[in-house]
Amino acid sequence: MKFVLPPLPFAMDALEPYLSREQLYYHYEKHHRGYLQKLDAELKNSEKRMLPLEEIIRTSKGKVFNFAAQFWNHSFLWQCFAPNKRTEPTGRLAELLDSSLGGKDGFDERFAKAAEEEFGSGWAWLTYDPQTRRLTIISTDDAKNPLQMDLVPLLTLDVWEHAYYLDYKHDRKSYIAAFLNHLINWEFAADNLSRYLEQRKRRSG
Ligand code: FE2
Repeated sequence: MKFVLPPLPFAMDALEPYLSREQLYYHYEKHHRGYLQKLDAELKNSEKRMLPLEEIIRTSKGKVFNFAAQFWNHSFLWQCFAPNKRTEPTGRLAELLDSSLGGKDGFDERFAKAAEEEFGSGWAWLTYDPQTRRLTIISTDDAKNPLQMDLVPLLTLDVWEHAYYLDYKHDRKSYIAAFLNHLINWEFAADNLSRYLEQRKRRSG
């Protein structure tokens, strides 16, 4: 399978003034594209390249894992931004936020804490746990992601310095606040949750 860099779902300047065109350009064109190019190079002579990306992530270690997971994480990340519109949690997602995390305020507090306290490079995630049937917030180091843990990713924020340093320098906290207050895409999270719950229903039905 030849992997393709998905187009950004919005214009390069669509996240301004919270994330600049320059910040997004380097993040997407250099980092995201770079992971794809390195993944292609690593898998050049490997039969693994025929597998779906998620399967490569679940079954690989070392460089292949890092490049595959970082490629997947960034493709997921761009969809977590909703420029120019305010979205709110709705339906089953809103109910689960209330019962699992103390509503949207509880979510904001816990997600910000996970993102701020992730030491070094990594990611903060809102996930659905199929075992407990609750929402959970986790942070992961480097390229790691919830697919390895059998959790369903609903939303993420990249807290590698390359994600915010041009705009926010050392101030990760303000970058996280801008995401939570102005950019977060609750519609994407709700779609991810319904898709998973519908698949589960079909499998069990
Ligand atoms: Fe990144």
